[in-house]
Amino acid sequence: MSKCDMMRALSMASVYIDRRIDDGSRLAITLPHAAHILIVAASAAIITHQIKKNNKDSLVDVEKAFVLGLLHDIGRYIVDENEAQYPHTIAGYDHCIKLHAASVAPICLTHAILDKATKEEYPRYTPEQLDFANEKISKIDRSFYDDLIMLIDLHCRGDQIFSIQDRLNKNKSFYNIQSDNYSSKYLEC
Ligand SMILES: [Fe+2]
Repeated sequence: MSKCDMMRALSMASVYIDRRIDDGSRLAITLPHAAHILIVAASAAIITHQIKKNNKDSLVDVEKAFVLGLLHDIGRYIVDENEAQYPHTIAGYDHCIKLHAASVAPICLTHAILDKATKEEYPRYTPEQLDFANEKISKIDRSFYDDLIMLIDLHCRGDQIFSIQDRLNKNKSFYNIQSDNYSSKYLEC
């Protein structure tokens, strides 16, 4: 990640956190969510730092892991409780592209979509949104960072930490996901 990309990403994260902290009307979701992105970012940085410490030849980038963790949910800055109309994954991707931050845009999709978005697993997405997400996902060469942020995100919801199985169960009931192999797909990856 170049210094320029990094500065742009940090500035986006700062706007995002500022707005959420300023927005007292939604404090109940603001603070847990601010904690969530910081937990994901810090965990990603700690894990990549540990990888580098154990293997000096490793090319993993601690700053990149931190920034991607910080921005993976930036779509929630756009949609908040309007997720039903405009999923935060697509909103985040669109937002990053609009701000010329193409290098961080994919994480907005990949942290929540492992391979293909289907109606069974993403019941709130419209057919057009499913097509959009799948078209973008098909062109993304899934990286270490995509899997890292996805797995850390699966351990967290708001400011709470869960087992991945518990988080998947919560997703299933919250989003009314009907797919039988939804959990196993993630647990096997
Ligand atoms: Fe998240």
